[in-house]
Amino acid sequence: MEAWFAKGLVTWYKKNKRELPWRDEKDAYKIWLSEVILQQTQVIQGLNYYKKFTSSYPTVNDLAEASEDEVLRHWQGLGYYSRARNLHYASKTIVNEFKGQFPNNYDSIRKLKGVGDYTAAAISSFAFNLPHAVVDGNVYRVLSRVFGLKDPIDTPAAKKKFQILANDLLDKKDPATYNQAIMEFGSQYCKPANPDCLNCHFQSKCFAFSHNLVSQLPLKAKKTKIRNRYFNYLVELDQKGQLKVYRRNEKDIWKGLYEFYLIESESELTIQQVLKHEAAKKCLTSLNGIKFASKLYKHVLSHQHLYARFYVVLSSKPFNTKNTKADQQHLPIRIKIEELKNHAFSRLTLKFLDDCLLKEII
Ligand code: ADE
Repeated sequence: MEAWFAKGLVTWYKKNKRELPWRDEKDAYKIWLSEVILQQTQVIQGLNYYKKFTSSYPTVNDLAEASEDEVLRHWQGLGYYSRARNLHYASKTIVNEFKGQFPNNYDSIRKLKGVGDYTAAAISSFAFNLPHAVVDGNVYRVLSRVFGLKDPIDTPAAKKKFQILANDLLDKKDPATYNQAIMEFGSQYCKPANPDCLNCHFQSKCFAFSHNLVSQLPLKAKKTKIRNRYFNYLVELDQKGQLKVYRRNEKDIWKGLYEFYLIESESELTIQQVLKHEAAKKCLTSLNGIKFASKLYKHVLSHQHLYARFYVVLSSKPFNTKNTKADQQHLPIRIKIEELKNHAFSRLTLKFLDDCLLKEII
């Protein structure tokens, strides 16, 4: 075991760590919340979500009793909504199978829905001081650079190799501090671009530094393939200021969130092409003109680039006010503008709504 590494990391951490609410936390439930949120976003933005979740749902029972819609609304803007659904599902498992007591061993934690090796190691070390090393993007970067591991990190063989090295390096007496330290060092110091190698604690031992490989490591086998998608949204509005929104049910991005009537196309469509589209005819009961066509929004996700335009279309007839259950079939619900806040939307749609409400378009 390379004891200098753990020692150096922890010394650096104690001097340089940021004070974050989940770092003094021993409640496994709250640690779990923080880790799931932090897989999705940076610390600064994550803090607000952490506060929102812990104040609305102070215990795992509170989360389990909430509706999925409400949980999604709390998660709104973070993206990757299956994480929020899994969080909610797992909270019910904890209530039903563990009597509301968060499981206190790695294997039971790892079995919870949505919990992978990283999260299980983080919770078991931070909450229960169990000797499980975390391996996330920060850890891959630090270990590949310091120890010169050139295995592409997106392969199963490398994952195993990094986990073995990480477990070997772990300070078994204080795994919680060690795990926090390596992640903090990766995110604050040994950054993907422009790390401050000249002042680094590990400079004399770092393989990447001495071989001039810092910007090349870690290696990846595949380039991420990006899929372009084109979203044409019809924002149906009646004279009473009611909007039709639909709940997404497909196995696709944003499952469970609400959106306007969507026509997806292979390329960018003109307004005439949108209106002639079979799907548009189906949805527009009695069309009374297009009030507004938005700019083209580009929305970047990890594996997809979305190009979206929103068309506000006026209906001459008031919408039927009886709301069907929107979940089963792709049926709309009618809501007033003031009620938008009661439903969870993607960040893309929220951006459009913000722009639109500012300009008083709807
Ligand atoms: N990223 C993931 N987990 C983290 C943690 N516990 N503290 C800071 N950043 C993190």
